[in-house]
Amino acid sequence: MSIQFAGRDVFDRLNVTDRLKIDHLVSQTQPSEDELHPGSDVVCGLSQTPKSLPPRYFYDDRGSQLFEQICDLPEYYLTRTETAILQDCADQIARLTGACEIVELGSGNSTKTRILLDAYQQADYPLCYRPIDISAGILESSAQELLIDYPTLQVQGLVGTYELALQKLSATHLPKRMICFIGSTLGNLSPQACEEFLQQVTDALQPGEYFLLGIDLQKSKTQLEAAYNDRQGITADFNLNMLRHLNRRFDGNFDLTQFEHFAYYNDIQHQIEMHLRSLKSQTVHLKTLDLTVEFAQGETILSEISRKFDLTAIQHQLQTKTLDLLEVWTDPNQWFGLLLCQLRSPD
Ligand code: TRP
Repeated sequence: MSIQFAGRDVFDRLNVTDRLKIDHLVSQTQPSEDELHPGSDVVCGLSQTPKSLPPRYFYDDRGSQLFEQICDLPEYYLTRTETAILQDCADQIARLTGACEIVELGSGNSTKTRILLDAYQQADYPLCYRPIDISAGILESSAQELLIDYPTLQVQGLVGTYELALQKLSATHLPKRMICFIGSTLGNLSPQACEEFLQQVTDALQPGEYFLLGIDLQKSKTQLEAAYNDRQGITADFNLNMLRHLNRRFDGNFDLTQFEHFAYYNDIQHQIEMHLRSLKSQTVHLKTLDLTVEFAQGETILSEISRKFDLTAIQHQLQTKTLDLLEVWTDPNQWFGLLLCQLRSPD
């Protein structure tokens, strides 16, 4: 018997299809700038000084696989530390929130979500999960795995950007909702984008509803730089893969041997800055974008920032958005923070 047949059998028996709903937010509204002019963000980033590229081009199939490998690297403490914190406090989170729908922004493969689902299941709460991700493929495959492992779970996924999803987030039949934004993805937003994002979270919530935020904390330059410059070179491959992705998407001729990964900690702005550095003076063409880019030797393209937070400062920022802090959890080394907030009720 084929594995596929066995898989379908399991699907039928567990009513997986009945418990899964996925809405696509992207193309239903007006076409986005990217749909109208694919790659206009690439043209814009590479025409500026200093040059930059949008981080979303990290994530083709190979990029997503490399990212999963990054999360397991010995130097990359973030995923491990956040997972351990979640394991310790998930029961407490469930107790504090009561039955609620779990909304997750940038759900990816939902590994850490299982810890929360286990706690809500243990507490005998109904299990409703609303994953939001830009990648329909990852969203659907991880939802199906979850539905097999949690026979009472209902999944209502949204494919689209955080911004759109937060605007369109509908009510739940459960008493409340909890928006989860873990993995320190908040740190990949500029301070201004971060401020706007927190406002969108506030606008999406009803008073009394929850926001669970996972953030990487400030620490030594040595440790931070090691985390983004691993010895196996996986982060370097991940960074360089962006150029491979652009070559494929836009018929480009980036020579991957003539660029290198370069990441350092800017301890004034408290952020890792990840760049691609040109090893020589060179010219690159992206045919379908009709774009020619000149690089000086040593010139860099900024591909990602990863901000590192101060717990007191972020708490204050959340307060200004009327997100009241209920509890903060951290690890024994204070490397990573998990914050549970509740939207304040108007007086
Ligand atoms: N948010 C995580 C971090 O900043 C994961 C991440 C996003 C990341 N982009 C990355 C990790 C680029 C390495 C390289 O660490």
